[in-house]
Amino acid sequence: MTEEMLPRKKLGLLGCGDIGRYHLLAYRDLVDLVACCDIRPEAAEAFKREFGFVRSYTRMEDLMADPDIELVDVCTQVSIDPNSLTNSRFAAVQAGAPTGKHFLIEKPLAWEIDSAREIVEMCDRAGVRLGIGHRFRYTSTMNRAKELLKSDGYGDPFHAVYLLSHFGWSPPKPYARRPQMTIMEIGIHAFDLFRYLLDDEPTSVYCVTGRGGMRGVEDGPGDTHFDAIVKFRRGCVGNIYLSIDNYVGRKSWQTNWYGEVLVECSKGAIEVAGPDDESTLRHAGPDGRVEAIAAEGESTGFRGLMVEMLRALRDDREPTMSGRDHLNTLATSFAAYESADSGRPVVPRLFEPALR
Ligand SMILES: NC(=O)c1ccc[n+]([C@@H]2O[C@H](COP(=O)([O-])OP(=O)(O)OC[C@H]3O[C@@H](n4cnc5c(N)ncnc54)[C@H](O)[C@@H]3O)[C@@H](O)[C@H]2O)c1
Repeated sequence: MTEEMLPRKKLGLLGCGDIGRYHLLAYRDLVDLVACCDIRPEAAEAFKREFGFVRSYTRMEDLMADPDIELVDVCTQVSIDPNSLTNSRFAAVQAGAPTGKHFLIEKPLAWEIDSAREIVEMCDRAGVRLGIGHRFRYTSTMNRAKELLKSDGYGDPFHAVYLLSHFGWSPPKPYARRPQMTIMEIGIHAFDLFRYLLDDEPTSVYCVTGRGGMRGVEDGPGDTHFDAIVKFRRGCVGNIYLSIDNYVGRKSWQTNWYGEVLVECSKGAIEVAGPDDESTLRHAGPDGRVEAIAAEGESTGFRGLMVEMLRALRDDREPTMSGRDHLNTLATSFAAYESADSGRPVVPRLFEPALR
């Protein structure tokens, strides 16, 4: 399916910050840019000028009431006030879904599972589609890894490893002040990637969190690295090591932005590794031949997210990274924190059936 066959949608962007910029740079040619909105007027105005939006707003309510907008990309933080449970995504969907707007929303959907579930239900009631920003799924190498794992040749996955060690990243302020930080901000991608690649759900999570020397969050309470063992229904065991404490730097041990993944199966193995723009998929099937496939196209996965969103709207179906599917990624992330607190493996409270 070529991108050229995708429907063009009229887009509103909520949140003109770091990730809003990455989104637009990756997919702006696929949509019509109608309006952008940020509570910081200078940010909204700067995005309007730079990307060519027709208008800009400073009140979310005005963006949601704009009758021209069909699809809203929500790139705010969950909440700008770390002490408040006010969820900017909740407020956006509450105002925009009844007017027929579809949503692509950055992860995590909420900091409480009930709030996330209500957002999913609001979209259901309004008959609009909800996709979540799990971009790690949609790089060209990860797409190919998923295809290979779905094919029969590799047999059953029995062991999966995810490794990510970051240097020089600072979490947005609200996250830095929260007790639940690195798993909610980055680790959630790893749990999501395992669920997606293995096409399976976790039965238990054992996790240990810690704080290292991460600069910029010295006064915060949150985790800066964690180790997790995740068992899956069909027997695969996943290992995650994720850290934002890496002092060594990019040229040595640091992995790329979406980590390195190895999946060992009964008849072969698949590995995705290397820096973002040179990420390589290596796989060895039952014949023992090793093939390396280099990444193609836009390397962050943000374009792939929008492509999947537009395909879902064209085909009148849920996007694969739907809000409903995200509930189980969130449940797995919360189980990891519960395990770290209790020192025991925890069974995630999953929603059934998850859709993928
Ligand atoms: N998918 C990924 O790989 C990825 C990577 C980084 C960040 N993120 C997520 O993206 C989200 C945003 O992160 P960021 O680093 O861009 O933050 P940021 O602070 O740079 O940008 C957020 C913007 O939203 C604006 N904003 C906040 N509340 C608003 C409201 N109610 N109405 C209008 N504007 C509002 C802020 O003024 C700010 O400009 C976070 O949830 C983060 O977890 C995702």
